[in-house]
Amino acid sequence: MYKIIEFQSLPSTNLYIKENYRSLANKTVVMANHQTAGRGRRGRVWQDSDDLLFSILLKKNLPESITNLSLLMAASLYKTLIKKVENVTIKWPNDILVNGKKLAGILLESVINAGKTEYVVIGVGINTNTEEIDASLQDKATSLYLETKAKVNKKELLRKIIRGFSEEYKLYNEGKSDYLQICRHHSSVIGREVTIIINNAQKTAKIVDILSNGNISLMVDDQQIEMNSGEITLTELY
Ligand code: BTN
Repeated sequence: MYKIIEFQSLPSTNLYIKENYRSLANKTVVMANHQTAGRGRRGRVWQDSDDLLFSILLKKNLPESITNLSLLMAASLYKTLIKKVENVTIKWPNDILVNGKKLAGILLESVINAGKTEYVVIGVGINTNTEEIDASLQDKATSLYLETKAKVNKKELLRKIIRGFSEEYKLYNEGKSDYLQICRHHSSVIGREVTIIINNAQKTAKIVDILSNGNISLMVDDQQIEMNSGEITLTELY
């Protein structure tokens, strides 16, 4: 059972879990109505205003490929959000876009001890009731409110997402989840060209597929190569 703990304000829900993971139960969900030090991937700041911000702690039965948890969450978010808004796509491995603009981001953090993953934190930020996007991000980000002109009950949306993720994760453990098909069919990156650096040389590559280990395969110089989410950032693609 997933248990939701709600805070009015926290520095960061990911940080809260990392600081308290020993005393928190497996499958604890921490939600905050505001974060004072929200973090995105690669140390970026994650700003919020009336958005859905939460993190899930997983300590047991973790999959071999942790990136798959990001894709599982992306597929769960897709399935919940597509009921509210059209033109949802997944930008591997951690962004949800609507009409090509970022609606949500996933920040997956894990701690590995003696080769074993001790715990994983899946942090999710969804631009929910934001009425105005920062001028510098206007062509890159959007919110559910801006797309639908309707305000959302954040706690209700969270319950739906957790229900969906819980079901998806159960199916994944039984080998029955369609998360990979969802991430492939609704991908904003498959078939697109990106610039990558290999052996200090800049190359143009085409993204071919998302693989079952969570990596992507790319075509470069007529060769198919595989990269993981730590090796490549698809900053150019929106
Ligand atoms: C990204 O797109 O870079 C990932 C953004 C993740 C933001 C969420 S908000 C809840 C959780 N707490 C944080 O500090 N970050 C994640």
